[in-house]
Amino acid sequence: MKKIAVLTSGGDAPGLNACIRAVVRTAYFHNISVIGIKRGYKGLIEKDYCLLNPRSVGGIINKGGTILHSSREPRFKIPEYRKKAYENLKDLGTDTLIVIGGNGSFTAANIFAKEFPINVIGIPKTIDNDLYGTDYTIGFDTAVNNAVEAVDKIRDTTISHERIFVVEVMGRDSGFIALDVGIATGADITLIPEYPFPLHLVIEKLIDSYKKGKTFSIIILAEGVAKAQDLVPILEEKLKNYSIGGIRYSVLGHIQRGGSPTAFDRIIASRFGAFAIEKYLKGEKNFMVSYEKGQIKTKPLDISFGKIKKPDLEIFELTKKLTI
Ligand code: F6P
Repeated sequence: MKKIAVLTSGGDAPGLNACIRAVVRTAYFHNISVIGIKRGYKGLIEKDYCLLNPRSVGGIINKGGTILHSSREPRFKIPEYRKKAYENLKDLGTDTLIVIGGNGSFTAANIFAKEFPINVIGIPKTIDNDLYGTDYTIGFDTAVNNAVEAVDKIRDTTISHERIFVVEVMGRDSGFIALDVGIATGADITLIPEYPFPLHLVIEKLIDSYKKGKTFSIIILAEGVAKAQDLVPILEEKLKNYSIGGIRYSVLGHIQRGGSPTAFDRIIASRFGAFAIEKYLKGEKNFMVSYEKGQIKTKPLDISFGKIKKPDLEIFELTKKLTI
């Protein structure tokens, strides 16, 4: 019986469990056994494993988080620990490791695959959707929907008090979440790290809106631009001569990353997991699963190495056009 190992690494993302389930069930369908590595690369270094089978992944498709747990393991950056990880993988009786991860995990996976005679298969997940080489990463849709739900609630109180509200959303270095949330909630201003929106223009836009009779404004701020708590005092100072009902902020934080995955995330995660196994069976090695223009395909594992994925400028411009 063939054997493979699977781990989830980096920030968790809704849909990870659906992906693990698909990997395990597709593998068993083809008579391949699956070892689950606990806590990402940490478990590979520390030999923390469990045997997964079709029953052990039952009842998890609708659950957020990851049954395998996750971590960002700093020791995996050190060659001697990667060697240990390789030896542990060999002792497990497999040369194939499926890494369900984002940028950091893929970088590590790529180095690992180049150093040792192994087969590393990357499945893209991160709520940030900022992994180069794929249009989509598992978890993004749920994170956007979680944030939209929160902003819709914030909008009610903002309108009542005729305030300006700054909502900080996740996206460590990227604005994908902010952009989609900005459009879906009709935010007046969306600030993302990839494209500039200078502070004086933000102020100008808020004053202009006020003069046009808008009684409230919502600003979606990607965490990679600034902290909401730092932006608010600046806005208060610049807008002190206008009679607005005050300025407040909310940091949505990890709420965005939790909860039941959307149908889209469950389906894409299931398809990614099953696809990875099918390609493995066809003998493909060291590849990542990629979603491009609506198609699932494979790309070389190292395609994302050192690359940055940026949102379309057109979408950023749209956030401005829709809020005149
Ligand atoms: O990469 C996903 C992400 O949620 C980012 O949006 C965020 O900056 C980061 O992880 C938070 O990481 P942690 O959960 O370790 O605080």
